[in-house]
Amino acid sequence: MKRRNVLVAMAAAPLGAMLPLTSFAQKPIVLGFAQVGAESEWRTANTESIKSSAKEAGIDLKFSDAQQKQENQIKAIRSYIAQKVDVIAFSPVVETGWETVLVEAKNAKIPVVLTDRAISSKDETLYVTFIGSDFTEEGRKAGRWLVEKEKGNAGPINIVELQGTVGSAPAIDRKKGFEEIIKADPKFKIIRSQTGDFTRAKGKEVMEAFLKAEGKKINVLYAHNDDMAIGAIQAIEEAGMKPGKDIIIISVDGVKGAFEAMMAGKLNVSVECSPLLGPQLMSVVKDIKAGKSVPKRIVTQESIFPMEVAAKEFPNRKY
Ligand code: AHR
Repeated sequence: MKRRNVLVAMAAAPLGAMLPLTSFAQKPIVLGFAQVGAESEWRTANTESIKSSAKEAGIDLKFSDAQQKQENQIKAIRSYIAQKVDVIAFSPVVETGWETVLVEAKNAKIPVVLTDRAISSKDETLYVTFIGSDFTEEGRKAGRWLVEKEKGNAGPINIVELQGTVGSAPAIDRKKGFEEIIKADPKFKIIRSQTGDFTRAKGKEVMEAFLKAEGKKINVLYAHNDDMAIGAIQAIEEAGMKPGKDIIIISVDGVKGAFEAMMAGKLNVSVECSPLLGPQLMSVVKDIKAGKSVPKRIVTQESIFPMEVAAKEFPNRKY
């Protein structure tokens, strides 16, 4: 058929007959994301970052919330494998126990991206890349801040620690990094350490127990996230003490709630951990689909905010 005749035939054809011509339009990339839960202000910001960046990037996002349970995350990953999504991404609630499901993804030839939290596995072929913070360094920053603050104080300095979710990478690494620094001086003593599961409610409950057991002996609280610190602040106030003064408070994340607490003089310092991982994730997903190579580890750049800079920094905070 000559070109002019083709155009005439197309103009006369019913819409259905023309559909094959449009089938060349690119299908959007389908990304299955298995989120940890909604345990903290940080997590809410992380979810929002992933959802809005997917929309902006034109990626079809399938999203699930595991409510802090590993079995729910495994179920979600299996359902993404069954749906034959293009890429799976997840933030592992705990470090271990992922091999079986990740081998299933590998056998189905679906690339996996870890975001925020790492897994502990010898087999690095189970995922393409890990995008997120250096949690050990965050713990070290918290420790260094305390060492500097207490320079010249002979001690003892009694510390209570609110750990994150048991077995999670941030809880393990933030503890390790902090201890690595404070162990250089025996005046620092961790007298109590327990999980608060990264939530305000649990942070408050565990701090109440610490106060009951140790009372005025407590000099410092190290909380693995801001939410637990904010819960603990309430417990300290209810016990008739002044958070930020009677007890020095150090936490991690740098969420707006922590800045508000710092501006009120109730929290001494927050080590930044950025939840805004969405744009990086979407760009990595596109690179993977385009067959480009991506680095095995993408580390988020972060800072530390003592209460003295909180008011100046607050207007710049995005989460
Ligand atoms: O994995 C990141 C941690 O998880 C954040 O520090 C905490 O707030 C969240 O729940």
